[in-house]
Amino acid sequence: VRFDGGRDCPIFESKLVDVRSLLPSDWKQQVSATVSNRTVYRQHPPTPLISREDRPDGHTLRGRVSASAVLEELPWLPRLFRTSFCALAADFAREPVVPAEDYRYGVVLNVQSDPTMRFECHVDSNPVSGLLFFTSHPLGEGGELVISYSPDAYGIQQIEENCSIVVPSAGYLLLFKGRLHSHYARPLAWAGAIRIVAPMNFYTREFPESDRPAVLNEHRFKTEV
Ligand SMILES: [Fe+2]
Repeated sequence: VRFDGGRDCPIFESKLVDVRSLLPSDWKQQVSATVSNRTVYRQHPPTPLISREDRPDGHTLRGRVSASAVLEELPWLPRLFRTSFCALAADFAREPVVPAEDYRYGVVLNVQSDPTMRFECHVDSNPVSGLLFFTSHPLGEGGELVISYSPDAYGIQQIEENCSIVVPSAGYLLLFKGRLHSHYARPLAWAGAIRIVAPMNFYTREFPESDRPAVLNEHRFKTEV
């Protein structure tokens, strides 16, 4: 498995799907309460192999609701991940895909609730990625998803130089091939704003979950439950 690109990928392919009709009618309240009660904020060191930070010692501050907390509080989310969202991901990828089996990285929530927080510059380890946005972030207000055309862009400046920008909209599922594109989430522009997203990993026959490097789980679960 290569995480250094290894191929040209000049085009950023993605699909943004309105999935609000699939969510419970009170999803905003449910997600908001879960984030208030279950988010753990901490500094995250760069992830081995897939980090695209330009400072190897750099940490990024952000919040996370664990997969087990999501399973308890928002059981419809992992259920949709394994059914309707998986079908949408297969449609996007134009090949069969399977959802991640390991519940620990099945569905979590990533949270930014302060301008000092952002999401690490990285590529994904899985071939097809879903991001379900639970908050909206108009262009220029921070929280935009910035996706480089290259898997070899390191750090914010290189990613921003040659990129597509996705403006998150609540209730929309973005599908893309995050393995091929360095990406990160911009910090929020002001205190009091909040950004909530549920990342989802899908795998294909060519890139199965069994190829996910063990070092990623060792890194991720040594300090989390
Ligand atoms: Fe990602």
